[in-house]
Amino acid sequence: MQLMARPQRWPFLYTWIVILGIVFASYALTALTNPAPASANRVHWYMARSAGMTAYLLLALTAFLGVTTASGAWDKLKLRKLVTQLHQFSALLVLPFVFFHLWGLYEDRTVPFSIPALLIPFADRYRPAAVALGILSLYTWVLLVVTSYFRERFNATAWRRIHMLAFPMFAAVTLHGLLAGTDSHTAWAKLVYAVPSAVIFAASVTRWRKARSKTARRPSAA
Ligand code: HEM
Repeated sequence: MQLMARPQRWPFLYTWIVILGIVFASYALTALTNPAPASANRVHWYMARSAGMTAYLLLALTAFLGVTTASGAWDKLKLRKLVTQLHQFSALLVLPFVFFHLWGLYEDRTVPFSIPALLIPFADRYRPAAVALGILSLYTWVLLVVTSYFRERFNATAWRRIHMLAFPMFAAVTLHGLLAGTDSHTAWAKLVYAVPSAVIFAASVTRWRKARSKTARRPSAA
């Protein structure tokens, strides 16, 4: 199975063209208007936070669609194929928002982040454990996407075991947002973390129960 069906390739490419356009326009606007460093920092700080939140919600959506598809929740509505494609596409869409998250952090000079600090766990002293969880989640996300893209090269058990990393990754990225984020003390941010976590937890329990009852009903090969 391919990660991206043919009809999804163009929208994905357009998304990247729009993103590169935004990056270019942002640099051009900065060069033309030459804003005071404090206001440039503020804009990048807003961007880092809003993109982090968007990436988090997209990851949550991806996890929810994946778990509910695996438990057969969409089968009766004959939506399995569509939801699987949405699962794959939302997984890919995480990347641009993580890019904006990191770009915002890099450009905001109030708390300076070097490129190694953005990519190597514990390379910086700013909330090191919380930031390391974000970096590790990013690498796990890359692993999940790449192994799914080349799924046919793995045996089914190995692929499934790798894909199960999505559960600890989601827990890690939730902790990352809660512990590293400036907004975590606000009620709305707590809701942003709590609602998807509760929904995904409930969907995972349902999936696990269904899988267990299926195994129990299977006649043993005596
Ligand atoms: C899967 C990838 C990632 C997701 C979904 C994600 C998501 C988030 C979220 C939701 C927040 C909270 C923002 C707020 O409270 O307003 C946050 C904060 C933060 N993230 Fe990430 N993150 C990811 C990867 C990374 C990586 C690779 C780094 C590398 C340094 C990083 C560094 C930070 C920092 C420093 C903050 C604190 C920003 C602040 O509010 O001052 N994140 N992230």
